[in-house]
Amino acid sequence: MNKARLPRKSRFCYDVATKGIEGDSDMNNFIFANKTKVYFGKGGVKEYLGSLLQNYGDTVMLAYGRESAKCNGVYDEVAGILRAQGKTVVDFSGIMPNPTYAKVQEGAKLAREKHVDLILAVGGGSVSDCCKVIAAQAKLSQDIWDMEVVKHTYPTEFIPLGTIMTVFGTGSEMNNGAVITHEPKKQKAGIWAAQADFAFLDPMYTMSVPHDQLISGAFDTLSHAMETYFGKPDENNLSDEMNEAIMRSVIRNIRVLLKTPNDYDARSELAWASAMAENGVLKIGKVTDFQAHMIEHQLGAYTDCNHGKGLAVIQPVLYRHIYASGAARFARFSENVWGIAPKATDEETARAGVEALADFVKEIGLPTSFAQLGIPAGTDLRAVADSVVTTAGCCKKLTADEIYEILLECR
Ligand code: NZQ
Ligand code: ZN
Repeated sequence: MNKARLPRKSRFCYDVATKGIEGDSDMNNFIFANKTKVYFGKGGVKEYLGSLLQNYGDTVMLAYGRESAKCNGVYDEVAGILRAQGKTVVDFSGIMPNPTYAKVQEGAKLAREKHVDLILAVGGGSVSDCCKVIAAQAKLSQDIWDMEVVKHTYPTEFIPLGTIMTVFGTGSEMNNGAVITHEPKKQKAGIWAAQADFAFLDPMYTMSVPHDQLISGAFDTLSHAMETYFGKPDENNLSDEMNEAIMRSVIRNIRVLLKTPNDYDARSELAWASAMAENGVLKIGKVTDFQAHMIEHQLGAYTDCNHGKGLAVIQPVLYRHIYASGAARFARFSENVWGIAPKATDEETARAGVEALADFVKEIGLPTSFAQLGIPAGTDLRAVADSVVTTAGCCKKLTADEIYEILLECR
């Protein structure tokens, strides 16, 4: 073999430290990991939960909501597997939608007293979120609300957590965020807590979910995707292209469920889209927006309204207020998500996409006003607006007065 001598420095060598880069440099750096092992599909709990439990100690907190898990047989199935594995079961029931700080404290006290080795959350985003924070609070000597919301410090030790999702939309199953309502403080805030070691996503469990909750959850997924898509940067990137595919899939599959409510494939697609929209993949390289969520959360703190339905009212109105400040990005949304042909200007194309979203909310039977959502007319919307913590990630950062205007328009 002819061993040609290489020059001391190859002409292909690119000195990254001293040379500049061509083109835009808007792709943000990122670190990505997701620790949750997902068991997706029919019958997964029966097949895998028993052997998984062998990795944990003897005492398991079985946490669930108010009625559904006992009515639809999921509770019995899970409790039977726990018994068959010889586990001591600590029952923790009654976790409400929009879980409260008081419920977290009740669960943490019980987990501490009973020396719980694993928390098994059976339910939707509310049960999952409540358990994430119980897992953290039980290991802390200080109050987690004060620690995070006031002092901005975060827990590092948790009781291990596993989730069995029975309704989809929040994406809570594959991240460490939880949303908790502190009733006396009238605040609904994000708390960083435990992330599940494992999550069972069985679309069959959703067969008993009331239709309006199913659609509300699916809209929540669409909302997460949009709030991520409208975050910075605006330039082309892989995360946004994947996001467009997810948004189209959610829209298409909601429409399938309107015609054939029990369609297993559509439920499966929506279940996986729910996890994908909030497991970090779409956020890679992006600073996300989440202004609609911040507004909805405070509306929830004051009214205990349904999360997905609240977003359905707020998001189109919010976008009517801001699309002109991000016309090119909203125009791309119109074309690539709603299939709208480009109009004379980006602004016109953008507006058509916002109206397509508003029409979609009507088409799928979600509320389009606070009155339809059941928000009492006397709700102090000024206080709601003033208590919203806004984020920086979109084409326009709203002031409290603008949020108030948006809330008034939602009535
Ligand atoms: O309480 P039960 O009787 O179980 O009934 C529940 C509840 O009434 C019912 N349900 C659940 N599974 C069922 C079922 N009914 C029949 N059959 C089943 N298989 O559904 C109702 C709603 O449940 P919930 O868990 O409250 O709904 P969702 O999953 O939408 O969770 C909403 C909460 O999650 C937060 C929201 O703010 C809200 O507090 N979010 C959490 C996020 C996160 N951790 O990443 C992100 C989201 O943006 C969101 O903010
Ligand atoms: Zn949400």
